[in-house]
Amino acid sequence: MLINKIEDVRTQVNDWKKQGLKVGLVPTMGALHEGHLSLIKKAKETCDKIVVSVFVNPIQFGPSEDFDKYPRTLEADTKLCDSEGVDIVFAPTPKEMYGEGVRLSNDTLTYVCPPFFYVNKLCGKSRVGHFDGVCTVVMKLFNIVQPDYAFFGQKDAQQVIVIKKMVKDLNIPVEVIQCPIVREESGLALSSRNKYLTEQGKIEALVLSKILNNIKSCYNKGITDVSALKETVYSILSDKHELEYIEILNRDTLEEEKKANNDSIALIACRVEGVRLIDNLYLGE
Ligand code: PAJ
Repeated sequence: MLINKIEDVRTQVNDWKKQGLKVGLVPTMGALHEGHLSLIKKAKETCDKIVVSVFVNPIQFGPSEDFDKYPRTLEADTKLCDSEGVDIVFAPTPKEMYGEGVRLSNDTLTYVCPPFFYVNKLCGKSRVGHFDGVCTVVMKLFNIVQPDYAFFGQKDAQQVIVIKKMVKDLNIPVEVIQCPIVREESGLALSSRNKYLTEQGKIEALVLSKILNNIKSCYNKGITDVSALKETVYSILSDKHELEYIEILNRDTLEEEKKANNDSIALIACRVEGVRLIDNLYLGE
């Protein structure tokens, strides 16, 4: 069932709650792929009723980012959700979510801003304000849907950490479930932004997973010095790749560590054909 109005979602969910049913929310920006579907499948295992939100959230995009050209495929998304047994696809307009001022600034909207420590690194460094936009929309979705469980992918590792922190700090009554990264057979992590890549670009994009796997195999051979592990990227990168960051941090807290260990995560952001791609890998698994 496709719903665009906040009130209509509330009415339906209230009805389910009265029946004692457990509700799961899978927040997305649409252009659904197997990565999103893995979250939906996990939600089906855990919950009685599933809401998938499809909303390209204007306030999490910077002024020079891809908000306007972000793929919007609501019809196909709705069909996919139907075939997966999703109960509600919630696809509000920006106006429904934010009122008249669609591209609001934090002067005109109450924002949820995660702590600086969590956002002054990785994606938050180049995408200033991005996680304020993410937390604000996710908080709104939590308040609209009031799910028992919410499902997020490890693909956006910093995002799920920031959301877990928000849930804990603000006592939000929802359980966050993190799901593993779904990849193509080639190793490329699925992403809606892969649609921007040419066939050659998709081959070049394999550099992200190659770098992460290389770091992990060096770690498995006993190299634990973080700087030494990070140095290994330069033998793999070519002039087709613009590295934004490579970091090895604690997988739960994003704290820096001198020595990698089984609780470390390696994270990378790199542009290929101008498309910003991210990926990560746990070293201890
Ligand atoms: P979006 O990029 O559409 O991703 C929606 C969810 O799908 C996120 O939790 C993301 O981590 C997960 N996901 C994406 N690719 C995946 C993959 N290859 N394997 C597993 N999970 C994957 O992330 C967002 O939207 C937005 O920031 C949102 C949370 C919806 C707020 O607007």
